Amino acid sequence: MILIKLGGSIITNKEKPLSARRKTIDSLSKSLKKIKEPIIIVHGGGSYGHYWSVKYDMHTKEKKYEIRGVAIVKNSMIELNKLVLDSLLKNRLNPYCLPPTDFMSGNKPIPKKIKEIEKIAKSGLIPVTYGDALWYGQKKTYILSGDKIMSHLAKILKPRLCIFALNEDGLYSDLKSKKIIYELKDENPSIAENKMDVTGGMTRKVEEASKISKMGINVFFVNGNKPERIVKAVKNRKFEGTLFRGQRNA
Ligand code: IPE
Repeated sequence: MILIKLGGSIITNKEKPLSARRKTIDSLSKSLKKIKEPIIIVHGGGSYGHYWSVKYDMHTKEKKYEIRGVAIVKNSMIELNKLVLDSLLKNRLNPYCLPPTDFMSGNKPIPKKIKEIEKIAKSGLIPVTYGDALWYGQKKTYILSGDKIMSHLAKILKPRLCIFALNEDGLYSDLKSKKIIYELKDENPSIAENKMDVTGGMTRKVEEASKISKMGINVFFVNGNKPERIVKAVKNRKFEGTLFRGQRNA
C-alpha cells in the first residue's frame, strides 16, 4: 500500500486563483497508471481551497468561521477534486471519490472507515480524498489539510511508503543554491514561507512527514513535475528527492 499526496502547489497554479494545472495532473495520472500496487491519493487545495480560505480568514483552528466561507471552500474543493478524478478516469484508472467527511468525525479519524479505505484500494479502485473545510461541532468548523489526512491514514494503515508530490525537487539545505537533502536526518532544511497557505505550507508538510517517519514508515518528498520519479521510488526504490527514513524504534 502506498499513500500519495498531490500537493496543491503541483496540481494548481498557486500564483493564480482558481487555476488548475491540467497537463501536470494528466502526466501524474499517466505515471500513476504504471504503479501496480494498491494506492490511495490525497490532494491539496492550492489556488482553490487556499484561495477561498484566505479570503474568508479560515484556518486549521476550530472556530465559528463565516458559514458562507465554509460553503464556498467546500464547493471549490469539489471542483478541483472533479478535475483530478476526470484525469484519472481518462487515463484508465478507477478512482473512488471519498470526501474527508466520509472518514472524519469532528477532528478525529474514524478507524473503522479508514480500514475500509484499505479494502477499497486493494480491490483495484483508487480512493481519492482531499483537504477540506470540515464541521467540528457547536457551529465550529476548521480547515483539514491533506497533509494531516496523510498522517491519519498512515497511522492506521501503515503503508509501505508515503509520497508527497511537490513543486520542488525536495527539501533544500540552502534555498539559494537549491542543494537537495537526499536523506533527512538531523538537518534543518531551509524553507520558504507562503502567505497564501492557511495550513502551514512546507513547514506543516515537514512536521507531518517527521511524524509519519517516526511511525516507522518511509516518507518521500518528490518533484511532481517529474512524475517518473514517483514511479521509480515505488518500483525501484530509487529516491530522487528527499527521503525521511522510517525510524523503527523512535
Ligand atoms: C488544504 O489542503 C485544503 C483547503 C485549504 C481547503 P492542503 O493544506 O493539503 O493543501 P496544499 O497541498 O497545501 O495546497
